[in-house]
Amino acid sequence: MEHFEIAVIPGDGIGNEVMPEALRVLEAAGSRYGVEFAFHEFDWSCERYKRTGRMMPEDGIEQLRGHDAILLGAVGYPGVPDHVSLWGLLIPIRREFDQYVNLRPVRLLPGLTPPVRDVSPGDIDFWVVRENSEGEYSMLGGRQGEGTPGEMVMQASVFTRRGTDRILRYAFEFARRNRRSLVTSATKSNGIYHSMPYWDERFRAIAEEYPDLSAEQEHIDILTAKFVLRPRHFDVVVGSNLFGDILSDLGPGVTGTIGVAPSANIDPERRHPSMFEPVHGSAPDIAGRGVANPVGQIWSAAMMLDHLGAPEAGAGVLAAVESVLASTDAALTPDLGGTARTGDLGGAIAAAVADG
Ligand code: NAD
Ligand code: IPM
Ligand code: MN
Repeated sequence: MEHFEIAVIPGDGIGNEVMPEALRVLEAAGSRYGVEFAFHEFDWSCERYKRTGRMMPEDGIEQLRGHDAILLGAVGYPGVPDHVSLWGLLIPIRREFDQYVNLRPVRLLPGLTPPVRDVSPGDIDFWVVRENSEGEYSMLGGRQGEGTPGEMVMQASVFTRRGTDRILRYAFEFARRNRRSLVTSATKSNGIYHSMPYWDERFRAIAEEYPDLSAEQEHIDILTAKFVLRPRHFDVVVGSNLFGDILSDLGPGVTGTIGVAPSANIDPERRHPSMFEPVHGSAPDIAGRGVANPVGQIWSAAMMLDHLGAPEAGAGVLAAVESVLASTDAALTPDLGGTARTGDLGGAIAAAVADG
């Protein structure tokens, strides 16, 4: 039987509510498809920061290194500044393990109520390929003249040739392997003088290596409008760290809820563990009430199964999600228009996996 060592970091807020549902679905998938998991849980969180002054221990990255994958809930909670909590846990994991691809599917699943007209399940079905290691997310810069009228801050972005080419190439390879044929690149090369024209230049160069695929470049402002007006059009959308972040909330928003959206932070070269987490955060506004949608976490676990080389189990989990959302109104959480609790939906999906 295949055996995997999984690091589990529930994190903050609803991370603690949706993670148990993903673990229960994984257990069900393990029994059904002959996969065994050892889950190692880490209490790294804002709670821990308040107790110890650190989000994770000094050797946290080393503690994670030996695992086959990392399953993460959400990081960040009122009481600790977001840039402190995120740069103390989530962002270091992405960077230390060179998880330079953040793969985020956007799919109109059955049972969702999209805020746009005339779309049915299957009509919205694309992937955001987000650069996950550099770009606008940087500590470079600083503040000058603090407290004076001339106070200013500068914040640098970093786009390396290696970092830009590898994410663009990943997007084209992904499109060729898995998708229809279109790669859309999100930039802002009319307003941002250095980095974005550079991205466009590299996009054109890499696109030439894939003459069998269509490539189009869009400025991020109009692209956000097209996500809402023509969501059917998209296939693979590649963007920088910040633009990919924004588009991967907008996409699920157009399908009706971000509660279902998953993500995979991948080191494609498999030198390090990859990390799987929902797109959403810790949702302080609903945390502790037991009403969070667990599907984003569960679908992330399905992506983990695919990555680990258990695609049958991954497909089984996703099929269970779709069948429960399509048929079981009693299991829908409030963001889906129902009154079910987190455990009702997670339990229904686990049962469907077992029967699958
Ligand atoms: P959020 O995603 O936590 O919440 C945004 C809105 O969506 C809220 O109204 C919330 O209730 C709702 N929502 C989110 N997930 C849901 C779910 N599973 N089911 C039902 N409703 C859900 O975004 P935010 O409010 O901007 O951030 C809150 C905290 O989470 C901040 O500290 C932020 O930095 C952090 N955050 C972390 C991650 C991560 O760990 N990857 C991602 C985004 C935000
Ligand atoms: C995400 C989150 C993070 C990001 C934040 C919390 C730093 O929004 O995973 O989408 O921007 O990467
Ligand atoms: Mn985000």
